[in-house]
Amino acid sequence: MRTAVVVGASGGIGRALTERLAGAGQYDRVFALSRRGVEFGDDRIVSSRIDLTDEASMEAAAREAGAPELVIVATGVLQTARLRPERTYRAIEADAMIEAFRINTVGPALVAKWFLPSLPKDRPAVFAALSARVGSITDNRLGGWHDYRASKAALNMLICNFALELARERPLAVCVGLHPGTVETSLSEPFQRGVPPTQLFTPAYSATCMLSVLERLTPADSGGVFAWDGARIAP
Ligand SMILES: NC(=O)c1ccc[n+]([C@@H]2O[C@H](COP(=O)([O-])OP(=O)(O)OC[C@H]3O[C@@H](n4cnc5c(N)ncnc54)[C@H](OP(=O)(O)O)[C@@H]3O)[C@@H](O)[C@H]2O)c1
Repeated sequence: MRTAVVVGASGGIGRALTERLAGAGQYDRVFALSRRGVEFGDDRIVSSRIDLTDEASMEAAAREAGAPELVIVATGVLQTARLRPERTYRAIEADAMIEAFRINTVGPALVAKWFLPSLPKDRPAVFAALSARVGSITDNRLGGWHDYRASKAALNMLICNFALELARERPLAVCVGLHPGTVETSLSEPFQRGVPPTQLFTPAYSATCMLSVLERLTPADSGGVFAWDGARIAP
């Protein structure tokens, strides 16, 4: 029984990843985890609940999923009632920054805490978290978006750390970050103006690209962050 898990299956990209994984026929079961427990109307997709601010929900979801070969964390926030992508350091607010880190950094880290021990030891397995190119420190030419950028840069560091630890106990496993491109979802909606149509992807296209990137990765790639086209993003 081959199992995949998508955390954040209610999101634009998470939903597309779930549907692609179930449709490809490579997995017998796809656990679609979200706060609301969204339904997909597909026998291979098992909907269940998870909240990144509730560690007990992660423990329960990990127990239910068994030993998945693939875990993708597709959650994240850029703008909420409190969180605004700042243009200047003058706009930094402690509570907003804490919210960005709580969802974009601490959330995926706790998912890793509960799901990495479930990855099989005797065959290849993948843990991937949706990051963002703007989390790259060397690639930063524009500045701004302090909370989001910093929370994704910290996530990238954790991915590198987890990969080093995983290599010792599960040498066949891969742990990476993924940049999906600019994708038409509610997260990017306020920022889509000015993005050339050829660079604005549908969630289905981005999901297909990222899944084919994951298929090509080997344990030697573990710890890195990869874009939708397979290019490694500088730390
Ligand atoms: N779209 C882009 O252009 C783009 C570009 C670069 C990187 N990314 C990254 O890609 C990932 C997915 O983004 P998206 O565009 O698909 O955004 P989205 O449509 O807004 O989806 C975000 C997902 O995160 C979930 N989430 C937020 N807070 C949560 C919590 N406390 N517990 C559980 N789930 C929570 C949402 O769940 P609810 O439905 O319950 O709110 C939703 O499933 C994010 O990490 C984002 O940073 C996106």
